[in-house]
Amino acid sequence: MLTIENLRKLFNGRNVLDGVNLSVRTGEAVALIGPSGSGKTTLIRTINGFVVPDSGKVLVGGKVINYSNKESLRQMRKKIGMIYQLFNLVERISVLDNVMTGALGRLDKGIDLISSTLGIFNKKEREKAMELLKFVGIEDKAFERVDRLSGGQKQRVAIARALMQDPEVLLADEPIANLDPKTSRKILELLLKINMEKDITIICVLHHLDTVKDNFNRVVALKNGRVCFDEETNRLSKKHIHNIYEFEEETEYLVA
Ligand SMILES: Nc1ncnc2c1ncn2[C@@H]1O[C@H](COP(=O)(O)OP(=O)(O)OP(=O)(O)O)[C@@H](O)[C@H]1O
Ligand SMILES: [Mg+2]
Repeated sequence: MLTIENLRKLFNGRNVLDGVNLSVRTGEAVALIGPSGSGKTTLIRTINGFVVPDSGKVLVGGKVINYSNKESLRQMRKKIGMIYQLFNLVERISVLDNVMTGALGRLDKGIDLISSTLGIFNKKEREKAMELLKFVGIEDKAFERVDRLSGGQKQRVAIARALMQDPEVLLADEPIANLDPKTSRKILELLLKINMEKDITIICVLHHLDTVKDNFNRVVALKNGRVCFDEETNRLSKKHIHNIYEFEEETEYLVA
């Protein structure tokens, strides 16, 4: 269970999060949409502790995140896996080593710390990383350097890395924005398979409404830092879409 209560964040005098309330049950898959600048990434970064809110609460698995307590942040980050648009892998090391770094929990100190700790993984972690590479379908690339992989393969590595810490929640911020349509579909299928088979809660930021409609039962829309729609996807009408994105003309994005 993930609960967000009246979350507020001010950047440069602007309410980027303006009282966000959201409750996501364990095992749910939620698409997060909204115009550019509406606060989606900021919300994701508040949930994983990289942005400290001005007020409000985030609870993961019933526990309130205490942003001023390093141990509380560390515990929370162990429960949360992140997937990014640009994969955020260490390009010059192997696929397997990248996946194993997921076992270190969240590191925000950068690449040097990661590379200096590569010697410390044990047999069990190595086997788990190989298992996960199999699960995401690229075990044959385990010993390749990441910079030799395609975007879709890189995203699979990133997903395996996120799974390494057995997260309760996966937060994916535009995970398919840099991929072609076919690869995008496969990566989304993989994320939803993880959601179904491993019962991992997923919040996925997406821009294409047809993709949302095809894959997610629930959609949450942010607009000016507030939740302006939170319902079953099939209730997302043209009128809602016009309201969320402030379209001035008719669009064919999604027909209700
Ligand atoms: N660290 C920061 N310092 C100052 N302003 C910030 C910071 N992070 C985000 N913002 C501002 O907050 C607003 C919301 O940004 P955010 O990245 O959350 O939007 P978004 O919904 O993810 O947009 P997009 O769809 O383009 O990714 C923007 O106006 C952005 O400039
Ligand atoms: Mg964003």
